[in-house]
Amino acid sequence: MSDLREAAARGLEQARVRTAALTEFDEPELTRQHSPLMSPLVWDLAHIGQQEDLWLLRGGDAARQGVLPAAIEKLYDAFEHPRATRVALPLLTPQEARRYLADVRDQVFDSLAARTTAEDLFPVVMVEQHEQQHIETMLATHQLRDGVALLGAGAALPPPRPVPHDAVLVPAGEFVLGVDAEDEPWSLDNERPAHRVDLPAFRIGRVPVTNAEYARFVAAGGYREPRWWSDRGWQHRVEAGLERPQFWGVDGSRRRFGIVEDIPPDEPVQHVCFFEAEAYAAWAGARLPTEQEWEKACVWDPAVEARRRWPWGASEWTPALANLGGAALRPAPVGSYEAGASAYGVEQLIGDVWEWTTSALTPWPGFTPMLYRQYSEPFFGGDYRILRGGSWAVGGNTIRPSFRNWDHPIRRQIFCGLRLAWDVV
Ligand code: AVJ
Ligand code: FE
Repeated sequence: MSDLREAAARGLEQARVRTAALTEFDEPELTRQHSPLMSPLVWDLAHIGQQEDLWLLRGGDAARQGVLPAAIEKLYDAFEHPRATRVALPLLTPQEARRYLADVRDQVFDSLAARTTAEDLFPVVMVEQHEQQHIETMLATHQLRDGVALLGAGAALPPPRPVPHDAVLVPAGEFVLGVDAEDEPWSLDNERPAHRVDLPAFRIGRVPVTNAEYARFVAAGGYREPRWWSDRGWQHRVEAGLERPQFWGVDGSRRRFGIVEDIPPDEPVQHVCFFEAEAYAAWAGARLPTEQEWEKACVWDPAVEARRRWPWGASEWTPALANLGGAALRPAPVGSYEAGASAYGVEQLIGDVWEWTTSALTPWPGFTPMLYRQYSEPFFGGDYRILRGGSWAVGGNTIRPSFRNWDHPIRRQIFCGLRLAWDVV
């Protein structure tokens, strides 16, 4: 079992390297509110430590004294303080926050030897996933930030091959939706339990919708035609003045982490909200998939009537299989991951962009909350849509075919895009 413990410790360390890289800037960069949608970076930083302190040093018992005085710890309660208000709080300075994270981490490593089974180690990997999720949030903050580039242009990606942008048939029938802890020990509560679901036949895009495809919708006047939009979507389009994806200029350029560059035609489009995704799909004579359809296309192997661990099979992720880990700072062009295709031949389901689905966040039948009860349960039934598959920014143990992300349908600062689906008639 010490192999599992070693892997969990490495997961924590790797997350911390990424956290440090996104917060190693001068104090004003960390304490400023770059957008009312986001926390100042120094809040995310200390909140990462606060959650680690709570779940790994106190077993989730907030009444026990943590590393910080209770009144200061309260500042990092996400339910108490909405993002827009966090900049006005008497937060730890970046220096104090770094010290706090290091102190908590030292104590966590001192206590790790007592954890031996996968069950004991679940909170550790849960905390790693929490840090990795906030790393993605901090990347969204960096993307919203004005000013000279701080992160560079991103690492090289594998070369793409030409790929058909066609619709792949997924025949009708049952499949297994969700996972159990025995098979996926690091799955979170809302991914469980595994259960059989019957779906009618459908088609799904082999690859995500690209910038070039989405640009045709913009050029065709899609943002001026209410008929492509839902009532709520059109109302939001008008009120928010949406004209094109966030960070696109009028001239075929985009701004990415402070760098202005031509929009790469074959990259999956990102920074569209659910309502834009829905309107694009209607214009294209298609619809968005449900999350059940998405998961079946991703993991079901019809030849053996069983789930795969990943779309490509049981092997661990490598950079040849999917664009994950954050180093690229962008999605990869479609056609870049032939070896990452699912049993049905669907590509780039994992990594690149979070894909909007039509599904709301609801519990699977038999849902049981995990130690961190507030992770999923308070959000069930809220005004959210599910996103699947992870983005290029996702790192560590934070993505699985069963992983369910959610956000408000108007949000687009996250690294989100879409894939089309069609009914089979
Ligand atoms: C699962 C991404 C919707 O950021 O709101 C982080 C993750 N929960 N800290 C979010 C989360 C608590 C959550 N999402
Ligand atoms: Fe959090």
